[in-house]
Amino acid sequence: MAKMEVKTSLLDNMIGVGDMVLLEPLNEETFINNLKKRFDHNEIYTYIGSVVISVNPYRSLPIYSPEKVEDYRNRNFYELSPHIFALSDEAYRSLRDQDKDQCILITGESGAGKTEASKLVMSYVAAVCGKGAEVNQVKEQLLQSNPVLEAFGNAKTVRNDNSSRFGKYMDIEFDFKGDPLGGVISNYLLEKSRVVKQPRGERNFHVFYQLLSGASEELLNKLTLERDFSRYNYLSLDSAKVNGVDDAANFRTVRNAMQIVGFMDHEAESVLEVVAAVLKLGNIEFKPESRVNGLDESKIKDKNELKEICELTGIDQSVLERAFSFRTVEAKQEKVSTTLNVAQAYYARDALAKNLYSRLFSWLVNRINESIKAQTKVRKKVMGVLDIYGFEIFEDNSFEQFIINYCNEKLQQIFIELTLKEEQEEYVREGIEWTHIDYFNNAIICDLIENNTNGILAMLDEECLRPGTVTDETFLEKLNQVCATHQHFESRMSKSSRFLNDTSLPHSCFRIQHYAGKVLYQVEGFVDKNNDLLYRDLSQAMWKAGHTLIKSLFPEGNPAKINLKRPPTAGSQFKASVATLMKNLQTKNPNYIRCIKPNDKKAAHIFSEALVCHQIRYLGLLENVRVRRAGYAFRQAYEPCLERYKMLCKQTWPHWKGPARAGVEVLFNELEIPVEEYSFGRSKIFIRNPRTLFKLEDLRKQRLEDLATLIQKIYRGWKCRTHFLLMRKSQIVIAAWYRRYAQQKRYQQIKSSALVIQSYIRGWKARKILRELKHQKRCEEAATTIAAYWHGTQARRELKRLKEEARRKHAVAVIWAYWLGLKVRREYRKFFRANAGKKIYEFTLQRIVQKYFLEMKNKMPSLSPIDKNWPPRPYLFLDSTHKELKRIFHLWRCKKYRDQFTDQQKLIYEEKLEASELFKDKKALYPSSVGQPFQGAYLEINKNPKYKKLKDAIEEKIIIAEVVNKINRANGKSTSRIFLLTNNNLLLADQKSGQIKSEVPLVDVTKVSMSSQNDGFFAVHLKEGSEAASKGDFLFSSDHLIEMATKLYRTTLSQTKQKLNIEISDEFLVQFRQDKVCVKFIQGNQKNGSVPTCKRKNNRLLEVAVP
Ligand SMILES: Nc1ncnc2c1ncn2[C@@H]1O[C@H](COP(=O)(O)OP(=O)(O)O)[C@@H](O)[C@H]1O
Ligand SMILES: [Mg+2]
Repeated sequence: MAKMEVKTSLLDNMIGVGDMVLLEPLNEETFINNLKKRFDHNEIYTYIGSVVISVNPYRSLPIYSPEKVEDYRNRNFYELSPHIFALSDEAYRSLRDQDKDQCILITGESGAGKTEASKLVMSYVAAVCGKGAEVNQVKEQLLQSNPVLEAFGNAKTVRNDNSSRFGKYMDIEFDFKGDPLGGVISNYLLEKSRVVKQPRGERNFHVFYQLLSGASEELLNKLTLERDFSRYNYLSLDSAKVNGVDDAANFRTVRNAMQIVGFMDHEAESVLEVVAAVLKLGNIEFKPESRVNGLDESKIKDKNELKEICELTGIDQSVLERAFSFRTVEAKQEKVSTTLNVAQAYYARDALAKNLYSRLFSWLVNRINESIKAQTKVRKKVMGVLDIYGFEIFEDNSFEQFIINYCNEKLQQIFIELTLKEEQEEYVREGIEWTHIDYFNNAIICDLIENNTNGILAMLDEECLRPGTVTDETFLEKLNQVCATHQHFESRMSKSSRFLNDTSLPHSCFRIQHYAGKVLYQVEGFVDKNNDLLYRDLSQAMWKAGHTLIKSLFPEGNPAKINLKRPPTAGSQFKASVATLMKNLQTKNPNYIRCIKPNDKKAAHIFSEALVCHQIRYLGLLENVRVRRAGYAFRQAYEPCLERYKMLCKQTWPHWKGPARAGVEVLFNELEIPVEEYSFGRSKIFIRNPRTLFKLEDLRKQRLEDLATLIQKIYRGWKCRTHFLLMRKSQIVIAAWYRRYAQQKRYQQIKSSALVIQSYIRGWKARKILRELKHQKRCEEAATTIAAYWHGTQARRELKRLKEEARRKHAVAVIWAYWLGLKVRREYRKFFRANAGKKIYEFTLQRIVQKYFLEMKNKMPSLSPIDKNWPPRPYLFLDSTHKELKRIFHLWRCKKYRDQFTDQQKLIYEEKLEASELFKDKKALYPSSVGQPFQGAYLEINKNPKYKKLKDAIEEKIIIAEVVNKINRANGKSTSRIFLLTNNNLLLADQKSGQIKSEVPLVDVTKVSMSSQNDGFFAVHLKEGSEAASKGDFLFSSDHLIEMATKLYRTTLSQTKQKLNIEISDEFLVQFRQDKVCVKFIQGNQKNGSVPTCKRKNNRLLEVAVP
């Protein structure tokens, strides 16, 4: 579904003005105020026509979200509030749709936000261009090249914590659909002096700190590095940590990015080894050593570091050591070796470190290019993004600043050329009226620097190549001679001595008045840095390295390829590459982002008007606005213009015959565009206001929709008509065939109908004749028939009468018979039917029962009384019988079982039964007694001579003879006693002597009490007032309590015919002499063992603890 389009404009909800062209009145003050107002409202982007001004907010703003990307996607440039995305979208669309190569030029001071802007442009383009796995990989690789290059090429400076120390130009290549294919990165002049020395408050390149903080211990050991920054001379100490930067985390990001970009593991490792080698080189120190012949010579102080470097890089230690102490000069066929003094040795060391690092950087760029280069040979469209170091003015400005600022001059030049000059020149060329606008053209400064005969760079080269002693001072002298009269060059010693009185200009310096301000350059080091000299001995030593990467970085060290020609100087190399870049940019459609730095503190919310004013001035932004306002916003050659808008007018649509210009005139007249809104140039139409253009675009869009409808309409009409004609033709053919068929059918119908009618008529006629003939014949036969019928009728009447007579007689007989039968049946029915039913029923029942019993006979269970088996019942109605039978059978087999008993056994069981009735479910001790046979006489007093006297004293039969514990009433302690039960008496005797202690006639025993628990205590209560009762009731404990109680009960019953009272209770009273004492059974604890214990608590209570 098409999204409903909401027409918006740059002019909606504007803060200040979004486009400086609309500023009224236009002057520096209003310009800055407008920027400030917008900056304070977080609007950091502002347009000047199609140029985007970006003010660094120094904090992250929520304006780069994916939603914002969607907002700006495919929208007109002036439709939404100014944004870097609008410019990116415009550039990308005109690349994709109009096939124009683009370049995005980002300029501004160091820290103004150029690098961030370039990343934003790339990420926007990546977000809106094609999708798909392959395309995504290309995008990912392009984006991930940034962290790698930033780690190696960026550093903290006083201006910017992440300042790019190299220039970068990246061509992103697209196919015809606008899908990215790959890219090419060019790098410009890495500031390599930073490797060996950094100004105050600045750092070396990020990668050194990242490696030391982020590498694992294992990696550090492998590279023989230590984590401590202070161990390394090349790392300045005063600002080793940068606020808000996590070097260790960034190290992981970089490693990951390298992997995505396509670095093999061994390649990444090699790179880190080179980085480590550079760091360690800084720790090599030299000391002077005098030689006999008076020459200075240096010696390495501590060879340990050298040894580690050689191990890391695979260089022969002696080779490297020699390269640090000698220098071989080859001239023609001669080879001269001179020793190096300490200063020269340090120079050589630093030169090696710088070269190693800068060549590594170039190698990285090439390696990345190899990964990201487009894989196809199809024609490519290109979008170039230029992020080059900004204009730099430091306290001490040296060769690097000179080069950087030169580059910025060139960029300003190209900006001037493409926007201001080009614009004015075009107006003149096209014959359009133009009021000239003054602007500062910096071509003159470029010329001062790059002129081939007397430019500063040419002078420097000349000085470097000149034989004889060359110093920075001689170079300055030369400059003073050649450039003194130049209005942008100032120096104390210049010929005219104009500046002799200018004390702000020290010696050994020169000043250039750049378009962006005056810069004072220290001349010291210019010659050296331009020469960029690395002693051949060192490059040869490097070439001999076992480390393949290092070897490949120094191809000139190969003795086979010795080249005596001097390599080009740094200055001329840079000049050449800048010239190539400029040429490249000129072929593309430029898009400008001009970055402005709001303050020098890297702080958010601060807008320093003086600083901004300075930048606006030297960037020439005001002139830029003036030119825009004086001129026309849009121009286009007549042909494409007519081609694009011809559908808006009847005369030009669909074909215009005649010159394109006339066509455009007709078109614009027809559309009634006010004449002041456009002008006709020689080959182009100029439209003053973007709004007019948008109006045209809208009309075109509307018209295109109408045209599409029209085409659709005509096509549909044509399609319906052809369809209709075809249908009509077919219909005629079908109708003809159908009619023929219908007629044929009708004729056949009529023909067969005629035949039918004919045959009916013939039939009818024949039948008529037949009928007449038949009638004649029937008349003849009728007389005979009537006679015959008459006789017949007579005969049948007679027969009927006879039959009637006979039937009546038979009916009487039958009725009589029935009546008789009925009478008999009535009489006997009741006997017959009822009895038969009952008889059958009984018979059946009898059979079933018989069968049941016969079957039962075979299924009888065993005779064991405990066998619980019983066959299932076969019929429901036999249920009670079946149960009864089971009961009877059980009783019978029990009887059978009992019948086997002897009298002895019977007695035993009787006793057991008695015990069961007395104690089952009442006393916990009972279940354990069931299995014990009741023996009665446990103590065989007849056999033991000790008890002879006792035996003699008893004449009756002894029922129980057993040793029991008698509980002492006073303290609960127990004493053993022989307990004897005879038919009439209960006797207690001393266990040792057998002397009788007490004798109680059974009639005096009234009750036996015991607890319900699992103990053997029992009390024997005696009749009050009896002789035996004088001492009180007895309290015993015995192992055979159940047996003894049962026997006592039985004996009492048989002798006195009275049931002995047996009380089972956990609390009962016992009479001790006069007192009644309560015997109480409590749950004792287990620790006393399993024997119950008895204790007299007080004179009313005796407590028995049962475990
Ligand atoms: N659009 C932006 N949004 C937020 N912060 C920004 C933006 N542009 C720049 N910065 C901040 O400013 C710092 C310097 O920007 P950078 O692009 O490195 O400057 P330059 O490349 O011009 O020297 C960045 O590190 C970032 O903190
Ligand atoms: Mg930068």
